[in-house]
Amino acid sequence: FMGVCSLLYLLIVFSHPLLSAYFSQQPQDQIVVSGQSVTLPCVIVGYRGMVQWTKDGLALGGERDLPGWTRYSLMGDPLSGEHSLLIDSAELADDAVYECQATQAALRSHRAKLTVLVPPSDPVVEGGPVVRLKAHTPHNLTCRASGAKPAAEITWYRDGEVMETAIYSKTPMEDGKREAAVSMLPIIPEDSDSGRTYTCRVLNPAAPAGRQTSITINVQHPPTVTLSVQPQTVTEGAKVLFICSATANPEITGYRWSKGGVPISEANGDSLEVTVDYSYFTDPVSCEVSNSVGSTNVSTLVDVQFGPRLLSEPKPMTVDIGMDAAFTCAWTGNPPLTLAWTKQGSSVVLSNGNTLQLKAVTQEDAGTYTCKAIVPRIGVAERDVTLTVNGPPIITADATQHAVKHSKGKLECRVGSSPPPDKIVSEPVWTFGDMSLSSGSSGRYEVQTVTSDHGVVSSLVLSETLAQDFQLRYNCTAWNRFGTGTALVTLKEQEALPMLIIVGGAVGGGCVLLICVITLVSLCCRHTGKGELNVV
Ligand SMILES: *[C@@H]1O[C@H](CO)[C@@H](O)[C@H](O)[C@H]1NC(C)=O
Ligand SMILES: *[C@@H]1O[C@H](CO)[C@@H](O)[C@H](O)[C@H]1NC(C)=O
Ligand SMILES: *[C@@H]1O[C@H](CO)[C@@H](O)[C@H](O)[C@H]1NC(C)=O
Repeated sequence: FMGVCSLLYLLIVFSHPLLSAYFSQQPQDQIVVSGQSVTLPCVIVGYRGMVQWTKDGLALGGERDLPGWTRYSLMGDPLSGEHSLLIDSAELADDAVYECQATQAALRSHRAKLTVLVPPSDPVVEGGPVVRLKAHTPHNLTCRASGAKPAAEITWYRDGEVMETAIYSKTPMEDGKREAAVSMLPIIPEDSDSGRTYTCRVLNPAAPAGRQTSITINVQHPPTVTLSVQPQTVTEGAKVLFICSATANPEITGYRWSKGGVPISEANGDSLEVTVDYSYFTDPVSCEVSNSVGSTNVSTLVDVQFGPRLLSEPKPMTVDIGMDAAFTCAWTGNPPLTLAWTKQGSSVVLSNGNTLQLKAVTQEDAGTYTCKAIVPRIGVAERDVTLTVNGPPIITADATQHAVKHSKGKLECRVGSSPPPDKIVSEPVWTFGDMSLSSGSSGRYEVQTVTSDHGVVSSLVLSETLAQDFQLRYNCTAWNRFGTGTALVTLKEQEALPMLIIVGGAVGGGCVLLICVITLVSLCCRHTGKGELNVV
């Protein structure tokens, strides 16, 4: 029975390929680094028919040298059932699922996944090998490692020390298998970091030793500038030296100077000598230093001492009586000046500010005001300004005027007026007794009016004075829209007495002299006659 069974078995195995064939070796999942060779084993026992491999379901062909797949071949003795697939110098394209098939026996091997690992390319650091960075400006040092499978790990080192702050990211490449990895290391470079070495190290299982790229950073900054003045304090007309000292990386490419925003085209070095005037006190001199990274502009004023300079001139004013008035004058000077407002004819200081306020002005306030600026030790200056007060006419006259009786007499009054008398003011009217006269003549009286720059002089002329004229009060009145102004005059008789005394005195003196002469003559005669002298 045993013999029959064995025979049957052999019959089944050898004469019926479909029933007896089996895999004694099958391909398993494998990992290979690109460039290496790999063998996917396949040994089928009890099979004589066609064996073929599929790659991702695609048949590679029935022949053993696999034409069309240059790096692929079947290995071993087919009579021994050996059909292993040899892949020479694996490539990413070989990364697939493989299956060994005994077609006629309807046998399929295990589906073996072949994983091809690809090492990353050399890492690339953006901007290397010398990365120029701007001082104090945040920057990401960026390292890329592409083409790796699986994605490369990236580590940053600064001067050999691991940096933990990098930000890592990866993205699949077009082939869907490899990945590109990027690591960004945020830094804020300082000047002292210039020359430091940063290393980007990448590795994956295909390149366990890793690959690395180093860069050095060159920290650049716009010029650092200081601008000094020598000497610090000067008077106008003195020479001053501006020194613009700067340090920079990269090197300075130029200096530009300006004063008060206006370029000084002829100056292009690191110093500037000028003869200063007051304007250097308010217009800053600036030095702008440039390099390829940027430019720095530094300004300075000069402490120039100068006497008062008028900034704003006070404007003459005309105001109506009772209104407010204000004058403003502004000066500049260095060192700081003091200001004083006074009224001409008085030494009283009315204000120390730029503005002089006059409340509810009267006609007495009219006049000239002076705004005086004093810069201690340096100089003094002043400006005059007039205030005109519109008010009633101001009539002035000598309260007592003289005339000789029975001769021509004259009374005068003067009209000062603001607004000007010829325009708005009335002609002055003389009133006396029951007479009233403003122009022309009436009887013995005549009014003459003379207009000059200083006002109007009105004269009441009496062709011959009579006794009653010396009894009257003469009223000279004028008015304008603000009101009236009046002056009262009395006429006093001018006595002829002083003249008579002189004349009388002269006559009297002559008489005395005559008497003396006569007396002397008579005494002499008498002396001659009697020999006796009388003292007179
Ligand atoms: C650096 O990279 C981070 C993350 O991508 C980003 O938020 C940051 O704005 C980057 N900084 C600079 C200076 O580019
Ligand atoms: C420097 O700055 C000052 C003030 O901001 C400006 O007036 C001047 O024009 C600048 N100088 C230059 C050379 O740009
Ligand atoms: C002077 O005359 C004017 C008008 O002619 C009159 O209004 C005024 O009262 C007089 N003044 C005096 C003090 O007599």
